[in-house]
Amino acid sequence: MIALISDIHANIEALSVVLEDIQNHKVDKIYCLGDVIGYGPNPRECIELVQQCSEFTLCGNHEEAVLFNAQDFNPKARRAIDWTREQLNSDSYDKEKNYQLWDFLGDLRKRVREDSILYVHASPRQPTREYVLPKDVKDPAKLDSIFKEFEDSEICFVGHTHIPGVFTKDLQFFYSKTLENRYEFKSHPGKKLVNIGSVGQPRDGDNRACYVLFDGETVEWRRIPYDIQATMTKIRAVEDLADYLAVRLEEGR
Ligand SMILES: [Fe+2]
Repeated sequence: MIALISDIHANIEALSVVLEDIQNHKVDKIYCLGDVIGYGPNPRECIELVQQCSEFTLCGNHEEAVLFNAQDFNPKARRAIDWTREQLNSDSYDKEKNYQLWDFLGDLRKRVREDSILYVHASPRQPTREYVLPKDVKDPAKLDSIFKEFEDSEICFVGHTHIPGVFTKDLQFFYSKTLENRYEFKSHPGKKLVNIGSVGQPRDGDNRACYVLFDGETVEWRRIPYDIQATMTKIRAVEDLADYLAVRLEEGR
C-alpha cells in the first residue's frame, strides 16, 4: 500500500496528523506530489519531514516559485513565497542546513511514472502549473487533450487544485465526498485522473487534512482533523502571511 500526500503548504500541524494516520495503516511507501511549501508558517520543518518520510517528492508550482520566480502569483501568494525564501535562507541556521533544503528543492522531479501510473503535481500537460478543475468537464477539448497526455498510463495522480476527486475520460468529475471517499478502479474501467486533495490547505469545504491510501486497486481519501487554530495563530504572527491564509484553513476554501 502506498500513501499519497500533496499540497502540504508549510502546515506542520496537518502534516503531523497525516503521518500519524499513515503509521496506523500498512503503508510501504509515501509519495509526495509537491507544494510542500508556500502559504504556511513552517516551510523548513515540512521540507525536513517530507524529505525523511517520502520515497519521492515532485516539484509543485510553489517550489518552482521559490526557486525561480513567482511572477504569475497573486500579490498575497507572492509575499508568502518571498517570506518562505527568507526562511530557507535564515542565518539563524547553519549555512549547511540551508543548503540541504535548497538542494532538496533543486532536485525535485516534475513527473514520475511507475508501472502504469503517472504522478505529477498539476496536470500531465503542464506538470507544475495547469489547473484541472471540476468545471473543466464542460471543456471537452481541454480534458481530451489532458487524457491524451497520459495515453501510456492507466491512472494519473495529481494535486494542485486542493479539490479531491476523480475525472473520467467520458467527462465526468466525482468529488471524493460523493464517492464516500472510496473509488475502486476495477468496477470503473477506463483511464482516470485522480486528485488526491491537499494535506495543508483543503479547498472542498471540508477543513480536515486530506490524503490518499492506494493499494493498486482502490483509492481511499482519508480526512483527518488537526489543530487548525494552532496553524492560524502562527500565520497571524507573521506579517508577510495574509490573514486570509489563516481564515481559509478554517473554512476549507
Ligand atoms: Fe498547492
